[in-house]
Amino acid sequence: MNIRRGLFVWGLFALAASTVLAADALPPEHAADSSGAATASVNFAKDIAPIVFNNCVSCHRPGEVAPFALTDYASVRKHAKEIGDLTASHQMPPWKPEPGFGEFEGVRRLSDPQIDLIQRWIKAGKPEGNPADLPPAPKFPGGWTLGEPDLVVKMPKAYTLRAEGADDYRCFVVPLNLDETRFVTGVEFHAGNPKVVHHALFFLDTTGRGRELEAASKDGGVGYYGAGGPGFQPTGSLGGWAPGVMAEKLPDGVGRVVRAGSDLVIQIHFHPSGKVEQEQSSLAIYFAKKPVDKIFVSYPHGVNKIDIQPGDNHYVINSTFTVPADVQLLGIFPHAHLLCREIKVTAKLPTGETTPLIWIKDWDWNWQGQYLYKQPISIPKGTQITQEFTYDNSTANIHNPNTPPKEVRHGEQTGDEMSLVFYQLMVDRSNALVRLRELLGNRRPLLQRQNQSDDKQQDQSAPKHE
Ligand code: HEC
Repeated sequence: MNIRRGLFVWGLFALAASTVLAADALPPEHAADSSGAATASVNFAKDIAPIVFNNCVSCHRPGEVAPFALTDYASVRKHAKEIGDLTASHQMPPWKPEPGFGEFEGVRRLSDPQIDLIQRWIKAGKPEGNPADLPPAPKFPGGWTLGEPDLVVKMPKAYTLRAEGADDYRCFVVPLNLDETRFVTGVEFHAGNPKVVHHALFFLDTTGRGRELEAASKDGGVGYYGAGGPGFQPTGSLGGWAPGVMAEKLPDGVGRVVRAGSDLVIQIHFHPSGKVEQEQSSLAIYFAKKPVDKIFVSYPHGVNKIDIQPGDNHYVINSTFTVPADVQLLGIFPHAHLLCREIKVTAKLPTGETTPLIWIKDWDWNWQGQYLYKQPISIPKGTQITQEFTYDNSTANIHNPNTPPKEVRHGEQTGDEMSLVFYQLMVDRSNALVRLRELLGNRRPLLQRQNQSDDKQQDQSAPKHE
């Protein structure tokens, strides 16, 4: 289990996202006014379209994750009531981290004046205004949020997933045909059939092992069976995808290494839907256009001793580790399953100063994400990082998959639980540790667990699996 977990962990992530969905500043005449004269002048073309185009259309457009498009007046008008309700309650756009606990890129949160403007537009009878005032519609070439990709690869054939039974794990080998080493600054995953894809990991392979495993697979399906990891030591990773993860580009000067001749091995964790389904996904790849001097690496720290009794509505996992070297933290990706309610990660610097890293108060498995900080955070050697996960295994938890609740332990099935955080670090290309790691086959951990606040809880960060 530990080994499987290690491989899984290694691959899980990297990416993420989120288009630039920053809240737009409002024209001053609206910002100041909360009722009266301006209400009559609120209209779709001038006031509402800019909010919707900048904050909603990345997901609410054909082929994307949201259930309907919000790309024009007619569609926004039709859903106006729910739009008013869900923006007022901050359920849309979805954005989980608590404000003030980590400063993130691409924050998807409407400002109070924007929310108010939507309310006033609805009250005013949803007027269209003058179409000449409409801002240009956002463009997504080929359907990709990040723009025209440099390379798009697709699973060579569709995979047929059985209707019933346990979750399925499958690896698909996709040659990249690169004849030189490249740096990747972003990837965007399009699941062929998002209903059944629990998550996907993008491993790199320069050894040809993935191809051998695929050739040796005798079960008749496309690709090969592979739970946990891809069945070999990956030589790199392009991150992964889970529900809610939006594609995002790394800052200039930072990239993921893809060596010449690498195959991409897409590992998909499937959750059968009750009927036979087909899946054929694609990955868009964006290469660095500027020189890269920092490498993006993702390091996990987690706990795999999880045992939550039925009815326990406050099960807490508290785990602390010490950072053994100075690192620059670019982003963070917390991960848990359905019973988790809250995740909080804090760094205590050697000076005693506390730096909040992330706090998600109402964890929702459907809205996971990699969160990139506005500015990379310098974490000095000796910093203690504490991860606190809280779970609710009572019937009061609407995400509880079991009625009545039953005991839930650590595991990879959707119905199991996890307690895991990926720390996304930026490491100098010339860093001795990076060079050493490359020599050792790319698998040496940089972060070593030094101590653990609770001995009963077993650590599952990368070092255990080496
Ligand atoms: C990151 C992707 C994303 C963004 C951005 C987003 N939505 Fe959604 N929206 C979804 C998804 C997915 C659903 C389906 C429900 C769910 O899974 O939570 C949804 C559902 C909705 C619903 C219907 C809920 C229901 O079932 O009645 C409304 C209304 C809505 N969104 C409005 C908006 C508005 C308005 C914005 C922008 C201000 C927005 N959304 C931004 C992904 C998004």
